[in-house]
Amino acid sequence: PRSIFFSRHGESQFNVDGRIGGDSALSARGLQYAKALPDLVKNNIGDAPLTIWTSTLQRTIQTAQELPYPKLTWKSLDELDAGVCDGMTYEEIEQAYPEDFANRDEDKFNYRYRGGESYRDVVVRLEPVIMELERQENILIFGHQAILRCLYAYFHDLPQADLPYIKIPLHTVIKLTPKAYGCDEERYTLPI
Ligand code: F6P
Repeated sequence: PRSIFFSRHGESQFNVDGRIGGDSALSARGLQYAKALPDLVKNNIGDAPLTIWTSTLQRTIQTAQELPYPKLTWKSLDELDAGVCDGMTYEEIEQAYPEDFANRDEDKFNYRYRGGESYRDVVVRLEPVIMELERQENILIFGHQAILRCLYAYFHDLPQADLPYIKIPLHTVIKLTPKAYGCDEERYTLPI
């Protein structure tokens, strides 16, 4: 049976700084994750064909850089656009836009950043990606926290209200194997 593998990019400089969005490069730890991936993937997939999908942001492309498989970049896999809050810490956002910060807490799925997106918007923009995923064989996606929450919720049929709170840890490959109903899941966490 074919599998879909998901992973967030390795730790980025913005992850270290607690800043959201942006297009920062991987940290030293993030690069270690990228270096450890070829063995993990090879042990899992053997000689079966695999295609890697990344976003257009350098942290996902860098995470995939050591892997010897065909690659495709999708703009639709870019992280949720935080609009005017892009590049800020949560503390800075709360200071600058206290009402927005409270509204987001109130209804995280529907809250749309000023000049940016909501989780609902991201679900819509991921529709073509999901259509293509349904037609493909083994795919490994290097994505972002909000993006992978949406894909994960789709394959496990989880409710919208829970979607923005799904835990997608760094340095972990999640393997989903679709069955007649639902998906089997395995996780591989690298001690980095
Ligand atoms: O902090 C990493 C990150 O991917 C940000 O770029 C993004 O805005 C955020 O996580 C999404 O998580 P949440 O919706 O919980 O703020």
